[in-house]
Amino acid sequence: MVVGELAQETDLVVIGGGPGGYVAAFKAADLGIQTTLVEENELLGGVCLREGCIPSKALLHVAHLLESARQAEDFGVSFKEPRIDVDKLRKWKESVVAKLCGGVKTLAKARKVEVVQGRGVFEDSRSLRIEGGGRLKFKNAIIATGSRPKSLPAALVPPECCVDSTGALDLRDIPKRLLVIGGGYIGLELGQVYAALGSKVTVLEVLDRVLLGADEDIARPLVARLKKQFEAILTGAKLEKCVKDGKEVKVTFAHDGKTKSETFDRVLVSVGRQPNIENLGLEKTKVKVSERGFIEIDRQCRTADKHIFAIGDVVGGAMLAHKASREGIVAAEVIAGHKAEFDARAIPAVVYTSPEVAWCGLTEDECRQKGLDYTVGKFPWGASGRAIAMGRPEGLTKIIADKQSKRVLGVGIVGEHAGDLIAECVLAMEMGALADDIAMSIHPHPSISETVMEAAEGVFGSAIHALRK
Ligand code: NAI
Repeated sequence: MVVGELAQETDLVVIGGGPGGYVAAFKAADLGIQTTLVEENELLGGVCLREGCIPSKALLHVAHLLESARQAEDFGVSFKEPRIDVDKLRKWKESVVAKLCGGVKTLAKARKVEVVQGRGVFEDSRSLRIEGGGRLKFKNAIIATGSRPKSLPAALVPPECCVDSTGALDLRDIPKRLLVIGGGYIGLELGQVYAALGSKVTVLEVLDRVLLGADEDIARPLVARLKKQFEAILTGAKLEKCVKDGKEVKVTFAHDGKTKSETFDRVLVSVGRQPNIENLGLEKTKVKVSERGFIEIDRQCRTADKHIFAIGDVVGGAMLAHKASREGIVAAEVIAGHKAEFDARAIPAVVYTSPEVAWCGLTEDECRQKGLDYTVGKFPWGASGRAIAMGRPEGLTKIIADKQSKRVLGVGIVGEHAGDLIAECVLAMEMGALADDIAMSIHPHPSISETVMEAAEGVFGSAIHALRK
């Protein structure tokens, strides 16, 4: 089938070409299913590749480089103050995105997945209208339309006063003073990028601490570093209004029992994401949407409409690319007639700041809330030769295990490369590992991965390189 030409009938149509949708389409094609991928953007890859995970990581890489160059002074190596060519930096980031989006297109072509550019709208449970041309009859469909940034009420933050993550990643210029509303994944990652590039960054968070998803001891080393890099992290702060004042924005908020006003050159709103379920024609199908606005699915990723599946951010849960991809594989396998279901024991969460913060399984907060009988093994990176040699000893690795069986319930890591280290812990949890299994696996020396082994030893109170309690 030729890419771009619209077939009248297809065995499977996947709506949305992000890391959920394209992975589902590729897996289905690999399983011998005739597949059409409908994507309204001219680039495949979704928010993740175009304006999310990938461009932010390209910029975080540069932020890390700048910070490392500054830190090198401690080791006796001095660089001149960096000169930042924003246009060149933006072009480099765009080239990273273009390369990866092009790669996805090549993979689609090689698999003979028909890619149709346009917006898909259901006409009924078996057919889809492509806005801008054509109709498609399908045997099965997978909805993978993703999510978009949540906005705050216009009375609070008028749209002309702020940008969302997409706007911030555009990197038009480097604002002198940046206000980040929301101290979650996006706020902290992009706040750190702009701080490294020279902006004075203030974070305004409504809750009493940032990065609420992670345990406080795991978030603490990151917060300590951010406090040095940012102008301020205001927790328990309530936004009252934003008013455009020429090129600046005057922001009023309540903090510490007082009402304060400050002026910023840019305001980034990063208060979460919301599913894209509107104008999809779902009302013409039997697909059910929950009160919170997510499409309801069963463990096979099937909606209430037998032949329509849904995956990724649009079904809620962890709104993360890797979770969407796994669901995409499950949906494709189910459609191919396999006995498959989404049964992940651990979905890793990673905040790609420096230090990185990563966790999987249950956090200690969740264990406490559930009233579980658990025990914790911690290994502070101040005792890791590799972390000290890198000049980054602020990390912490923590393993939470069931008190009786010592089965691993969850892991939290903060420190350089925590996002890579967590993969071992996900595998351990998927295999039902006990803390002993990790402790008895020989880890390479000198590596940061040893902190996982030592934290597992810590579950038994005997981490070799830590002081005994
Ligand atoms: P988030 O849910 O991580 O954090 C939003 C923060 O905003 C929360 O701390 C919340 O308490 C706060 N907030 C909400 N309303 C507020 C208000 N009116 N004033 C002040 N603070 C307020 O959401 P974020 O950072 O926008 O990211 C959205 C999603 O995107 C994440 O949940 C994640 O799924 C995904 N993402 C993942 C990344 C990764 O895997 N590294 C990176 C970036 C985003």
